[in-house]
Amino acid sequence: MKRMLLMLVCVVCASAHGQKFNQLALTPPMGWNSWNRFAGNIKEDLIRQTADAMATNGMRDAGYVYIVVDDCWEAMERDKQGNIVADPKKFPSGMKALGDYLHAKGFQFGIHNCAGTKTCAGFPGGRGHEFQDALTYASWGVDFLKYDWCEHGTANAEETYKTMRDGLATAGRPIVFSLCEWGDNKPWLWAGNVGHLWRTTGDIYNCFDCVYDHGSWKSWGVLQILDKQDGLRQYAGPGHWNDPDMLEVGNGMPVNEERAHFSMWCMLAAPLIAGNDMKTMSADTREILTNPEVIAVDQDRAGIQGFKYSAKDGVEIWFKPLGNDAWAVCILNRGTNAQPVTLNWKHETVTDDLSKRETKFDTTTYSVRNLWTRKSIGTTAEPLSSIVPGHDVLMLRLDKI
Ligand code: GLA
Repeated sequence: MKRMLLMLVCVVCASAHGQKFNQLALTPPMGWNSWNRFAGNIKEDLIRQTADAMATNGMRDAGYVYIVVDDCWEAMERDKQGNIVADPKKFPSGMKALGDYLHAKGFQFGIHNCAGTKTCAGFPGGRGHEFQDALTYASWGVDFLKYDWCEHGTANAEETYKTMRDGLATAGRPIVFSLCEWGDNKPWLWAGNVGHLWRTTGDIYNCFDCVYDHGSWKSWGVLQILDKQDGLRQYAGPGHWNDPDMLEVGNGMPVNEERAHFSMWCMLAAPLIAGNDMKTMSADTREILTNPEVIAVDQDRAGIQGFKYSAKDGVEIWFKPLGNDAWAVCILNRGTNAQPVTLNWKHETVTDDLSKRETKFDTTTYSVRNLWTRKSIGTTAEPLSSIVPGHDVLMLRLDKI
């Protein structure tokens, strides 16, 4: 009996330590996060109104279920027992009530904190409180934790994030663990068993093609972030995704750039975390964010990140293997002038060593569908000719006939 008890205890230990929650984020997480649009200007009314809007504007039903409260929700100090507490002025009903509100509307509750001693905005970080905070988050009904990397001092990233992973496992509530370490310590090499997604770069900036220099750090436009994904696709897959940062769709870029940004994030099998104001979203932005055929490329259950097949004169052709031997194809015009594109499928052989997939356009014919006009436009038996406007895409899906 004693031996059996001991064995039982050890089984529990093994599941509580040294591993993340499996069976979560089997497709890239989709949701909304407060940071890109609202930064520190958040309060519970905003989060509730966001949920109300997403429940009725098609976002929730398109799959955007994680609502993540980013930095600045905390009070400036922990309580006397060292518990992290929400700012009572910004969140007077408390975080448990907010979680209940989101759950009742069919959403999942996400929250942000930091692996360092302070968050990037100077609020209490999690360092030294990992197990305690994990229990707090579990008691609030949190489903998603974004964990930042400011004020980390000399801490070792892998060990620090593993400590929080183990805290979450011990607290026992399945929580998607989103590492926001900016790629500094190459999390793709070690985080597969630590978190469900990891940032691959510094912060996105709301522009298509620019770098914003803050002095001691830089943030990056859409194309700059895209280029930084090179060489990382082999590390992504169901339950462990490369995260090129949250979406800037709806925050002011022209509609062609929004479409290109969204398309490329879907080609990358990126988490789709909207970062715009849900209460005032334009019809154009809504159509982009909720296009089911483009989202299906991102959410394809095979979970294979796309790759750049060719690049010439600022026009890139990307392929992404999909389930059922289908493919997504995205032709990206990085320049500002429109570019003619001709693709004689039969002259192209696309081979992906990672997924062991190959298009055999000479022996196999695929139907071709334009995912933005949502029209079938022929087959791969005929060459494709099109003009891709500047900073825009032609995004296609190929299905075997
Ligand atoms: C870092 C992260 C951002 C955001 C801010 C909040 O910069 O990378 O995504 O969470 O912190 O302070």
